[in-house]
Amino acid sequence: MKLPRREFLSRCLTAALAAGARAALPASLWTARTATAAQPLAGDLIIRLSDYPELQQLFGSVKVSVPDARPPVPQRIIVTRTGATEFAAVDDICTHAGCLVNTYRRDLGGLPCPCHGALYAPTGEVLRGPAPRPLNRFPAALEDEQTLRIQLPSEVVEPAPAQLLHAITPNPAGEWIAISGTLPNAGIARFRIFSASGKLLLEWQQYLPEGPFALRYPLAGIAPGAYWIELLPPGHPPLQRPFTVVR
Ligand code: FES
Repeated sequence: MKLPRREFLSRCLTAALAAGARAALPASLWTARTATAAQPLAGDLIIRLSDYPELQQLFGSVKVSVPDARPPVPQRIIVTRTGATEFAAVDDICTHAGCLVNTYRRDLGGLPCPCHGALYAPTGEVLRGPAPRPLNRFPAALEDEQTLRIQLPSEVVEPAPAQLLHAITPNPAGEWIAISGTLPNAGIARFRIFSASGKLLLEWQQYLPEGPFALRYPLAGIAPGAYWIELLPPGHPPLQRPFTVVR
């Protein structure tokens, strides 16, 4: 997929989302890095340090939003100053159960997860469980005194293999629905249920490991009728399947 020039310019102009309200100037810029058939959409995040007073201090830490991010590009990045000229950049999805990890806390000495108490180093390593794995880390380097470049993974768009979403059962469904498939890589998967007319009715996301998965989801509040379920697997385009509810 080639990134249209208009969309590229739009990204540059709107890539100013940062932690908290920063209405004045763009705080970060999403820049095109490559635009080839193999890597149709990729980019680095440019952080202007003058927009983040927190990053002037050692262990100052901020959360930065990545515009239009789709897996494997993270939606948010925690940037922490770890030295005079060193910075660490990690995503904020806890590897335990997918809660959002907070920025660096000096009293705790790390990035805490508010759900079950995991603690991560600014560079992503697990300091305290129950998190089983480090946070994803992205290379970050100063380009000049005030400009930090964070390298983000390529957003590779491939045809989604059919086995990503094996089956929706039972179909017709009653009080619950079972969703099964196989993921080529672990990550946060998003699920959405739409009415036949396209209205979004339910949405949730959860961490799924690499390999086969099987979920059971309650359909409380979903009236009998025709629906679509959408799975957005980590690193792949969305997949949709129709199903019906009868009771
Ligand atoms: S989700 Fe973070 S510790 Fe459980």
